[in-house]
Amino acid sequence: MKQVQDYIRTIVDFPHEGIMFRDVTTLFADPRGFRMAIDQVLHPYAGIDIDKVAGLEARGFIIGGAIAHQLSVGFVPVRKKGKLPGRTISQEYKLEYGEAIVEIHEDAIKPGEKVLLVDDLLATGGTAEAGIKLIERLGGEVVSTAFIIDLPDLGGRRRLEALGKEVLALCS
Ligand code: PRP
Ligand code: ADE
Repeated sequence: MKQVQDYIRTIVDFPHEGIMFRDVTTLFADPRGFRMAIDQVLHPYAGIDIDKVAGLEARGFIIGGAIAHQLSVGFVPVRKKGKLPGRTISQEYKLEYGEAIVEIHEDAIKPGEKVLLVDDLLATGGTAEAGIKLIERLGGEVVSTAFIIDLPDLGGRRRLEALGKEVLALCS
């Protein structure tokens, strides 16, 4: 039977020369692949107390929405600068290929809420760390982080674990 990683393709030199871009659109487009990925991300969280799912733009919105629906909790987007319409707080971060700022609505998380942070891919961990900082600045508790893909050579897992965060990933 095909596994989650079998549905993911690698595009060479995107968006810049030297980057091996893991393209999950082929996973999301396949009915079995997408369901398998969502079910596998959800599995460890059965019975765990989670108030909100936060997803990192852009592909974290796709899995985060499906996971929040399955957990019957709300979904909170962590977006690139300038996209959210309400009052926001911002956090700068570095990428494997550049720098950026992410934002969250300042009323999206209530103090004490337990948050599951999700994205398609963990590389350097800069994006996820920025998301964690935003959630924690609002008083939320990031109880776990979940990804489809972990690129272990880029150190994201170590970086998030050093912050005391659980990191779950389906494949590398
Ligand atoms: C990708 C990926 C993660 C991030 C991981 O998004 O979806 O969000 O990079 O990299 P990091 O662990 O080194 O921070 P990208 O920045 O390409 O943005 P996009 O989803 O808006 O295309
Ligand atoms: N984000 C950072 N590095 C990436 C990669 N190699 N593939 C897809 N998204 C990424």
